Amino acid sequence: MTRRAVVAGVGHYLPERIVPNSEFEATLDTSDQWIRSRSGIERRHIAAEGQTTSDMATRAARNALADAGLEPDDLDAIILATSTADLTFPSAATMVQAELGMTRGFAFDVQAVCAGFIYALSTANAMILAGQANRVMIIGAETFSRIMDWTDRSTCVLFGDGAGALILEAAKGKGTNTDRGVLSTDLHSDGRHKDILYVDGGVSTQTTGHLRMEGKEVFRHAVEKLAETATTALEKIGMTGQDVDWVVPHQANIRIITGTAKKLGLPMDKVVVTVQDHGNTSAASIPLALSVGKERGQIKRGDLLVTEAIGGGLAWGAVVLRW
Ligand code: ACO
Repeated sequence: MTRRAVVAGVGHYLPERIVPNSEFEATLDTSDQWIRSRSGIERRHIAAEGQTTSDMATRAARNALADAGLEPDDLDAIILATSTADLTFPSAATMVQAELGMTRGFAFDVQAVCAGFIYALSTANAMILAGQANRVMIIGAETFSRIMDWTDRSTCVLFGDGAGALILEAAKGKGTNTDRGVLSTDLHSDGRHKDILYVDGGVSTQTTGHLRMEGKEVFRHAVEKLAETATTALEKIGMTGQDVDWVVPHQANIRIITGTAKKLGLPMDKVVVTVQDHGNTSAASIPLALSVGKERGQIKRGDLLVTEAIGGGLAWGAVVLRW
């Protein structure tokens, strides 16, 4: 028997306020048509004034607990992926722990920008396989609206706020690719590319800063590296794109999503796409897509999923998972 980390529940939360592309036309030299055609984004949710990352994360976590039929104290750990935590410390994860009323276990944040959820998922899987935890809540939650330069049309139209959560729990498998749960992970980073996507502020500089990006350069790395990491993660367990039921990609840009699917040799009807409704929600985008994909009836128990993301660092990776 092989120990596996299997999905027990999923949930998400999106802030109430929806901002359509047309809203930017009043303040920026841009158009709905430009944003749609270059990014595939039609609208995004933006957190209310005073609404924080941990607040959205807690709501997504409650939805995942309800989906799994579990109570907060059934969890051993919370791992929260974010680059936009409420405070410098404590971690947003411990804030969620307190808000949920969870009085045991441990909680910490992971920071790998848009790849954060993939890093958190891999960490949770490793901890479960090592016997350090039996049940882990993995959350991706972001308020990227707070680090936008709202005068920079090349970045501010691309991002949104939101949160998604997934619960993994230990289960016994046969040790084959037919097992449910995480089957393979593949992580990378290359700090030499730190200047093409970053925030120009932080604790050491005593500013919050704004997101800065060389869009074309990021785009070029994204398609190449995402297809490569997804292929590697599949190859590690002797599988190919042909075995995949659903690709659940980081939702940054529809052109990156279609380019990656093409390189994997997969048609778009095998790709979960939410970018039109959420924009790029960084670490929240994959758990949001998993939750929405399940709600839509796309992702079903037993389906083989490959999920991949890339973000600032650059940091990127993929996870193969049987739902
Ligand atoms: N409205 C109108 N025009 C715009 C806008 C806008 N919102 N933004 C930029 N432009 C202009 C540019 O100024 C440029 O004008 P110029 O030719 O006069 O200089 C022109 O449009 C073309 O700009 P490009 O950068 O060539 O446009 P491109 O087709 O590359 O699309 C985009 C830009 C959407 C940013 C694209 O490069 C991209 O998506 N890159 C990936 C970035 C990304 O997704 N990052 C997210 C974080 S990392 C991740 O999650 C993968």
